Amino acid sequence: MKALILVGGFGTRLRPLTLSFPKPLVDFANKPMILHQIEALKDVGVTEVILAINYRPEVMISFLKDFEDKLGIKITCSQETEPLGTAGPLALARDKLIDGSGEPFFVLNSDVISEYPFANLIQFHKSHGGEATVMVTKVDEPSKYGVVVMDEENGRVDRFVEKPKIFVGNKINAGIYLLNPSVLDRIDLRPTSIEKEVFPKIAAEKQLYAMVLPGYWMDIGQPKDYITGLRLYLDSLRKKTSTKLAAGSHIIGNVLIHENAVIGDGCLIGPDVAIGPGCVIESGVRLSRCTVMRGVRIRKHACISGSIIGWHSTVGQWARIENMTILGEDVHVSDEVYSNGGVVLPHKEIKSSILKPEIVM
Ligand code: GDD
Ligand code: MG
Repeated sequence: MKALILVGGFGTRLRPLTLSFPKPLVDFANKPMILHQIEALKDVGVTEVILAINYRPEVMISFLKDFEDKLGIKITCSQETEPLGTAGPLALARDKLIDGSGEPFFVLNSDVISEYPFANLIQFHKSHGGEATVMVTKVDEPSKYGVVVMDEENGRVDRFVEKPKIFVGNKINAGIYLLNPSVLDRIDLRPTSIEKEVFPKIAAEKQLYAMVLPGYWMDIGQPKDYITGLRLYLDSLRKKTSTKLAAGSHIIGNVLIHENAVIGDGCLIGPDVAIGPGCVIESGVRLSRCTVMRGVRIRKHACISGSIIGWHSTVGQWARIENMTILGEDVHVSDEVYSNGGVVLPHKEIKSSILKPEIVM
């Protein structure tokens, strides 16, 4: 089977992290977001993943070439010369997606995390005989998503409404699809939206089905949701393979620490923390609800909560970083500085406190 991952878009909502790497390569729980997806696809027998890209393909490809060998899966690129939206890229990759087997193929948004129950999706898709299946999940605020109105009994979708202005339901498109090759005949090679132009038509012909996604789900394309997503991910890891999580008297709740990270004496870490490879956390540091990316150094007695510390940054001793502070790559925070929601662009030095949420250029 094949899979196409939609990796276009500029990831503006995840700046300043996406100023250094395209969104799919931003680390989540110590590994680039897209690797979580590729590994799960490989597990259900996908042999080729096609990345639908519209900017900076070189970075993406050179990065993923390493993983082709490690994972034993083919990763290719389908590059747009202009952004083709969420459906146009399927038309562009048509020849790669059709291999004569008649098998359905996966399509994924690159910024969604879940347990990726792809095996259940294949089973459900084969059982209903329709042309397309979308995975759906329940959320409290459906207006920023695609909303699906479906027959609860058999999963058939009556309506698909992208970002509705008025309430139509609370089951939303999770950005994970399994499509028959015939869906490609419905898509023109032009900028076009699968949510606005393709799914509503397939639903009207009673060929679109939805499956409620078991377990957690999150679109981690913005900082607040990214931090919530880490909590959900670690919760699920606790239930599945709790041995991957850190243990000890200095750990509270779910904490993921890379084996190459060094943790000093007297730290208190957790809940909901990820510490990446090569990090040095000096003694007496307090970390909660945060992500500390590859190569970061946190000096003695610093305290970080509800924040993301980008690659190779340093945080000075007795500094206090909180309230959705996002440090871009290679940011240096001086000793005793306080940051309340600062969003700091890459390669900056922060010498004085940031007292209210603001962007530091
Ligand atoms: N190749 C390519 N070209 N990819 C694109 C383009 C493009 O022009 N535009 C967007 N994408 C990719 C994004 O990188 C992302 O992986 C996916 O398409 C969806 O785009 P988002 O910008 O993240 O959309 P959204 O989050 O507002 O809404 C979508 O996701 C929701 C779930 O998170 C829709 O699919 C909604 O229906 C859905 O509920
Ligand atoms: Mg999104």
